[in-house]
Amino acid sequence: MRRLLFLCALVACRSEVASSSAGLEPFAPPAVAEDLDPDPDVVHVRLRAEDLGARRYAYNGTSPGPTIRVEVGDTLMVELVNELTLPTTIHWHGVYVPFEMDGVTWMRDPVMPGQTFTYVFSPPKAGTFWYHPHFDTAGQVDGGLYGMLIVEDPAEPEVEEIELIFDAEAEHRPGVTRGHGHGRLATPWRINGVVQPELHVRGGTSVRTRLVNASNAGYLQISHPDLTQIGSDQGLLPEARAPVRLLLAPGDRADLEWRIGETGFSVVAQPYSLNGGPAFGEPEEVLRVVVEDPAPAPQSAPWPFPAGEVTPDPGHTDILYALAGSDRTRRWLINGETFPNVTIERIPLGSEAIVEIRNVSPSEHPFHLHGLSFEVLSVNGVPPDVRTVEDTYNLRIRDRVRVRVLADNPGDWMTHCHILPHAEEGMMTVLRVE
Ligand code: C2O
Ligand code: CU
Repeated sequence: MRRLLFLCALVACRSEVASSSAGLEPFAPPAVAEDLDPDPDVVHVRLRAEDLGARRYAYNGTSPGPTIRVEVGDTLMVELVNELTLPTTIHWHGVYVPFEMDGVTWMRDPVMPGQTFTYVFSPPKAGTFWYHPHFDTAGQVDGGLYGMLIVEDPAEPEVEEIELIFDAEAEHRPGVTRGHGHGRLATPWRINGVVQPELHVRGGTSVRTRLVNASNAGYLQISHPDLTQIGSDQGLLPEARAPVRLLLAPGDRADLEWRIGETGFSVVAQPYSLNGGPAFGEPEEVLRVVVEDPAPAPQSAPWPFPAGEVTPDPGHTDILYALAGSDRTRRWLINGETFPNVTIERIPLGSEAIVEIRNVSPSEHPFHLHGLSFEVLSVNGVPPDVRTVEDTYNLRIRDRVRVRVLADNPGDWMTHCHILPHAEEGMMTVLRVE
């Protein structure tokens, strides 16, 4: 929790300056979860799920909900107080948790209105994760129930941190005019609830920027000068990368390193089509970074990147998932089935399984696996250049992605598309590790 001091210093500087500038809205960091336990190895947080009316919801009065920070191996206890008129749960997206703590309603009851449930687990891996309900998921996430869970590794350098939780409504969700797809957005991108914020940062600082795409269905493709990605779904990458554009499908996360120097820049969201063909819309400035006290950009921080050997594909396939369906039928299928009428695939605890996912539908899908993670072995026969470990991986149309799943956590793990209306319209199954 030491890093919070740095964050507060940055925030204080930011809000003083930002309030004096005309035009754009000031940047707002998410709230910080209060730790109710004095024990340094235990983080105890209380989250009240509240109904704000008009299908808007909040945790402790805010959306995004408060950011929870723990160190690897700490015990995290989160008391969920359900003040909604609906059942709810919390799912810890990307985190290895015991099955009872996964917040799903498969074989488990949700937390009923007026009830409290305490989630207890100890996150084993550092990274940028997030939390959200897994009951009426599309509706409750769309209504604003989500927040960031950051697991820190003391071996990682202490630099200033900025959290960016993106949300926008896409047109292809029930209740909103169903356009022709192509990823058109019905609302502008919001970052931590604010449209087009302006963020002030001091020159000469290295900043770790953590991004989550919490949108139900909106694909976020960003670009900005000197885009350097250092982390993905499951912590640091094997090396820093400099993509021209960074795609975050719903549910995806990324960590960037910003080496702030003399000049500011704009973060731009590029239009993106998830149905092939042209992407309609204009590039949209989603965040403006303004430099205070310009100074030479610092060196890159000493990130302890993990070893990057890609596992060779053993060639056989243990489990095959074919993703099919269409917006017209509003049925989205895995292997011809819609949840909950699904065949449960099984992997023995302690073994590994090679899973092949084929997208034979006319839409892209972010494939998400609970409780475990997977290494990407190949995409359309081509292995990645570095080891890529993910829990959410976007499949383009006709992609054939082969992944290796280590079955090191027992449970019934939901496997689904993270376009939440697709999951609700059937694109979800169960992978059992026993
Ligand atoms: Cu964020 Cu079942 O997922
Ligand atoms: Cu999908």
